[in-house]
Amino acid sequence: MTTEPRRILLAVTGGIAAYKVPEIVRDLQRDGHEVRCAMTRSAARFVAPLSLQVLTGATVRQDLFDPSEEGEIDHIRLADWADLIIVAPATAHILGRMSHGLADDLVSSVLLATRAPILVAPAMNVNMWHHPATQANLDVLRERGIHFVGPGVGELACGWEGEGRMADPEEIAAQARRLLGSDSLAGETVLITAGGTAEPIDAVRSITNRSSGKMGFALAEEAAHRGARVCLVAGVTALPTPAGVERVDVETAMEMREVVLAQLDSASIVIKAAAVADFRPEVREEQKIKKASLESQDGITLRLVTNPDILAEVCAQKGDRLVVGFAAESEDVVQSALRKIKQKGCDLLVANDISRADAGFNVDTNSVYLITPDGEIEEIPLSSKREVAAQVLDRVEKLRNEKPR
Ligand code: CTP
Repeated sequence: MTTEPRRILLAVTGGIAAYKVPEIVRDLQRDGHEVRCAMTRSAARFVAPLSLQVLTGATVRQDLFDPSEEGEIDHIRLADWADLIIVAPATAHILGRMSHGLADDLVSSVLLATRAPILVAPAMNVNMWHHPATQANLDVLRERGIHFVGPGVGELACGWEGEGRMADPEEIAAQARRLLGSDSLAGETVLITAGGTAEPIDAVRSITNRSSGKMGFALAEEAAHRGARVCLVAGVTALPTPAGVERVDVETAMEMREVVLAQLDSASIVIKAAAVADFRPEVREEQKIKKASLESQDGITLRLVTNPDILAEVCAQKGDRLVVGFAAESEDVVQSALRKIKQKGCDLLVANDISRADAGFNVDTNSVYLITPDGEIEEIPLSSKREVAAQVLDRVEKLRNEKPR
């Protein structure tokens, strides 16, 4: 990902994982970014301010009211200076202070004053993480648009095992890069479909599926971060529109097809993440079917007819467009997906195992295989849908560079 040098403030709070902060600093500096650190008083017990000062070449701010520091560059200027703030490690205490808008030290004041995106890498004991108070704070912060990376599962410094380990420094730096955006898809128009379709039976009932749209929305968000113009055709989903994305809502497969084909000319990349219904009721009753009419007929038979395969239609008029399909499989995932990519004719197929509880429909994580027409298979292990979206788009960029226009 190519990115202009940006200004990143690393806010360090008091956890044992603070010793990994220098790695995050170095990783981001390698991209040419300017990194500064601020820390809470307890953070200074875990990592020496002097180490961070030497690494960043800038004063490490700790005190809100330090006469030698305040005035030279006060906390508001620090908040305004940053293009991105990373809180790592983030203790349960700082999450509580952030969610309540407290500003009783330098770090919390900067976090309240900034208008920059904030990325939080929590690290704490597993029981503190799962405590309803922490979870409620997380809900509030997520709602306000704060970004999170981790925590991971593993052996914790306190001796317990479970969720609470700070995400690896590389993962934090990768997520930071993503939030800073890039121009790697600048000039591309990406058409993405997401969510399930609903096929009406009568005025109130429909046949739908369990797709939440999360994977397609994560792809739309990520493509917009990379500088693409993004048109998102959304089926049935409750998700908010990602920033910078143009959205068209549809309900049925036929409506989705119409919008996709109308937008196709302007698209250079098409990603079909939607769970499109293969069938629709042949007849849509204008009025609600009454229970009495079902009882009198001893039930009714719904005749289903086939919906057009939108992906296959897009592939049939692919031109120099790059087309990515998805495959929802519940058995023989790789074999079925290899067959599917041949049938559909797309450049890349993202196959997921929908029988897993932690992947596929309506969860925040996914584990997929990226499959190419020549039979190349790459496994992306269980990761957040945001991370999977980034990896899918990395592969799309690679194919884009290989494929002549
Ligand atoms: N798809 C589509 N139009 C359809 C059905 C599917 O565009 N009517 C697209 C999906 O958006 C996805 C890909 O085709 O990108 C594969 O969808 P999937 O449901 O996995 O496969 P199907 O083609 O429906 O085949 P099957 O149900 O037999 O697995």
